[in-house]
Parts: sequence; structure tokens; C-alpha cells
Amino acid sequence: MTLQFRTIGGILDFYVYTGPSPDDVIRQHSEVIGRTFMPPYWALGYNLCRWGYNNDRNLKAVINRMRQLQIPYETQWSDIDYMKDKLDFTYDKQNFADLPNIVDDLHSHGQRYVVILILRRLEMMAFEDPGISSEQPPGTYPPYDDGVREDIFIKTHDSSQILIGKVWPGLTAFPDFTHPKIIDYWTRQVRSLYNQLPFDGLWIDMNEPANFVEGSNTGCTDNSLDKPPYTPWIADGNLATKTLCPSARQNLSSHYNLHSMYGYFEAKATFEALKSVRQRRSLVISRSTFPGSGVYGGHWEGDNNAVWSDMYYSIPALLNANMYGIPLMGSDICGFGGYPTEELCVRWTQLASFYTFMRNHRDFNAFDQDPASPAFRESQHILKSAVEFRYRLLPYLYTLFFESHTKGTPVGARTVNAYFPTDKWYDAYTGKEVANTGQNVTLAAPLETINVHVRGGTVIPMQEHNLTTAASVGKDYKLVIAPSEAGIAAGDLFVDDGEALDAISGMKYILLHFTATKNELRSTVQVNGLQKKMTLGEITVFGISENPRQVLVNGKHSAHSYDTTNKVLNIQRFQIDMLSPIHATWS
Ligand code: GLC
Repeated sequence: MTLQFRTIGGILDFYVYTGPSPDDVIRQHSEVIGRTFMPPYWALGYNLCRWGYNNDRNLKAVINRMRQLQIPYETQWSDIDYMKDKLDFTYDKQNFADLPNIVDDLHSHGQRYVVILILRRLEMMAFEDPGISSEQPPGTYPPYDDGVREDIFIKTHDSSQILIGKVWPGLTAFPDFTHPKIIDYWTRQVRSLYNQLPFDGLWIDMNEPANFVEGSNTGCTDNSLDKPPYTPWIADGNLATKTLCPSARQNLSSHYNLHSMYGYFEAKATFEALKSVRQRRSLVISRSTFPGSGVYGGHWEGDNNAVWSDMYYSIPALLNANMYGIPLMGSDICGFGGYPTEELCVRWTQLASFYTFMRNHRDFNAFDQDPASPAFRESQHILKSAVEFRYRLLPYLYTLFFESHTKGTPVGARTVNAYFPTDKWYDAYTGKEVANTGQNVTLAAPLETINVHVRGGTVIPMQEHNLTTAASVGKDYKLVIAPSEAGIAAGDLFVDDGEALDAISGMKYILLHFTATKNELRSTVQVNGLQKKMTLGEITVFGISENPRQVLVNGKHSAHSYDTTNKVLNIQRFQIDMLSPIHATWS
């Protein structure tokens, strides 16, 4: 096999990952680019967003109808319409006068709040250059005034001026996230908004960086950075199209060298800013990413459309992001642009309940598509049960994030198509074993169900679903055992307080390991660093050929039921402490 690179210069670093397994390759890659950040637990819950709530009344109406539907609903997001004149670090005190109370109310319901920041509208309000009209009096917009004073913005090719792009509603300066003083500057801006709206995370957008004019509002130069001898196959064959001049100067180097890392450096600064401001783990979701972005946050796929093919392509996009070390990833559920049909929205929600990052988001110019909206009245119960199923699996998903953070393994959501590799597979809902693996199997797929199968060899920790992750704290856990061909299975459960910065470094967590053989389950407590009560209240074992005569949990007889059709054993009606070793047998 050969691979050909054509370059016009620059420094190339090559790494060869020798594996041997695909998981090893991903782990080795993440060793080079940096291990993934540990998201707060709540970030795995259900996120709701749209562009165009337009005022606090509409926002409240959506929050209320979601609560009435009693669907798990973790985090409400605000798009650019919460801002005053689309200016970063401001909020519209007229149309969203009640926003601070809404945020308090979300928090008092154990819910979270995330807002957008958009580079393009960090407006330059008052230029010293008289040739450029100022739109607001100097001294009224600290993000710009501070940036000018501290020399934070990206400059033109000769460093003589701030590079100005143009976007609605006006002219824009672009922070240089490679600047040595950027963390301090950015933290100050983040803090000033946080003091008014105590958000739990930040959504950073347009950080390719996007620009509505070519390069800058005065164009670019003809130098070899702006007009290189060769350009890849990109829009207009011009590197400056819809972005900054490659010749623009950043602290670390030219924009030519740093362009693709703009979102990476912004995510890093935002991560650091949130850490100082909130003193807890927070959420950063970025549109632009680069290898290493997963160290600071997650990613969403950007503007998709309400069409089946975009739903389909979100699956490889999610798997790829995992390979690139960005395991927290999702696409706008039901589609961002266009008008989803009810069926599409149902299917997309079912699929997205297995995305690692689950957010419903849409464009400003169409009907609401939240699960409680009038558009989907017929299928609300299906949407609700899809999100509830995700919530039951959150302990498992969170444990995968812990593994990714500490070992670099991927968190790929298992989406099911009809091909089953040769192995043991079980229906996740009924526990029935799939016959005829190693080939295509035709599965029934009524609208209420999404096909989910568990591969033999795993012990999956679950918890009853609740309206928020906060409400799940202290509730009983359940273990699902799916034995392999050899009759064995293993799994882990990671639990911490969900957001402490030093949870892992300070060993303030609980890590349990489970192993199962043909007729027993054992647990070991590997780390016990948290004052927390954890109870196991149910064990389900798939693939048990006959009803056991005797079931013992920690030496005591326990009630059980056996499903002859699906060959599933269910052990219930006990409550045992998970922080001591567990031993359960069935024979
Ligand atoms: C961009 C984002 C989209 C957002 C919109 C308005 O198109 O990708 O998610 O809603 O800007 O901020």
C-alpha cells in the first residue's frame, strides 16, 4: 500500500501506531494528542435547544411543557437570540428580562443551562481608525475595549492593525486564542456573563473561524501565504474564502499555520475559563475541532438538515469522532434546517439516545421540534421512552467516559444494523439471544422500538430513569449480565459526584468491577473514595438455559423469576450494599 503526500512546505510530523488492535491504535493516538476530558455527569443527559425562542415567554412555555410531559430533561440551551444585538457576553434585557430567574428555576429543578458564544459577533465597536465607522461609543463594550488594550486580537499580515472581518450586525475582531494573555482575558469575559447568568457550560460556534467577507474587510495580500502556489480543493480554490486571510498574524504564528486549530485553542481557553469561574467540571461543545480538542470538550456536527440521509451520516460521524479522540459528540436531533416529519424525528430521537452527546436543536425559521411540541403530539410517548432508556444506561455510558479519560479507549455508541458479527448477541430489552449471527438478520422495527443488542461478555450497570441525573442520585442500581460464548462476562461502574474538578486526580470516586461466570456474579471494590451509599436492587442474566433451583445473593436466598421464552433470569426484591464485595449464585 502507498500513501502519497504533496506538500508546498511546512513541517510534517509522522506517528505510526502499531496497535495491534483497533482499540490499541485509538489509545496510542490519544496518548499523543491528549486523553479526553471527563465530562460532568449531567452532560450525558438530554439537551434541548433551538435558535429563535426569541423571548423569555416562549422559552418558559417550552420548559413548562417539557416538564408536564415528564420526559427526562437535563439541560436547556440558549442560541444567539438571548444576546443583546448578537454581542458575545451580553444578554437581551428587554426580550429576555426574566432569563436570570429562568436559570435559577432550572437549577432549582436539578437542571442545567448552557449558552452560545459566537466569535463572529465579538463586535469591534469603536475603532481608532477613523475610516471605519464605529457603531457604539468607546468604553461601552469591555470584550472589545479590553481586547484592544491588551492587544488580544488577530492582526493583519504586517501586524500593523487589528484584522477586521464583517458579519452581521457589523464589523468583527477575532480574539487570538494563542495569545499568552488570552486565558486571563477570556476568563474575565466569561465571568462577567456568568455573574449575570450562572450557566453550566458554553457552546462555542463559528470558530473555523467563519467570516462573511473574504479574508478581511479590506481583502488579503498577494503574498505567498495568501496566494500559495497550490491550494487544495476548497471553496473557490481560495484559502481566505469565508474565513480570515492566511497572512493574518497570531501570536504563535501566521493564521496560515494555525487556521485549523482556531477552534481547538478556543476550546482550550473556554475550558480553562470555565474551570476558574465555576470551580467544577463544565461542558464545552465546539463546532470546529482539531486532534486534541477532546481534551477540552465535545463536538456537534454543525448544521445538518431534517432528512434521512443526514441522520444516517451522523453514525459514521460519531464513530469517527471517537477515533479522533473526541468521544462526546452528537448531531442536531431531528435536523437543524428544514422541516422534519414526525417519523423522522421519532427515529432520530431513538438513534440519538445512543449518541454520546444528545441534543435536539433547530434553525430559527421553523416550528418547534422539542418532544413536547404540538408537532409531535401523536408520538410523545415514543420520544419519552427513547430518552428514558438512555437515562437507564447513563451509569454505563459515564463509566465508558471514565475509561476514555483514563485509558484512551473510545466511547462508540452501538448503533444496530442488521449484520451481526459472529458472537453471542442478545436483544437489549427482552434478553433473547439472536440466532444466526455472522450474517444479515432481518429485525422487526416498529416505530416504538429501536433495535438495540448487547454483545455477549458484558456486565452493564444501569439505573432506573429519572427526570434529571440529579434526581437519580441515591437510587438503586441494576446489573445486566450478557454472557459470552464461554459463559463469562465483565464490566465496571464508575461513580463520582458528577462534576468535581479533582474527582479523578484526587481519587474521589468509586470504581467497581464485576465478573460473571456461568452461575455466579462477583464484584470487587477497586476504588472507594467517596462517602456515598450505593445499593444494588436487581440482577438480570441473559442466556440462562433453565430455571435455577436456588438463587443466593450474598449467601441469602433470593426471590427470582425466569422467562422461559427469552431464557432470562431476573433476581429482584433484595437490596445490598455495593461498597462491599457482592457474590450472587444461581444453580
Ligand atoms: C450556526 C450554528 C447553529 C446556530 C446558528 C445561530 O449556524 O451552527 O447551530 O444555531 O449558527 O447561532
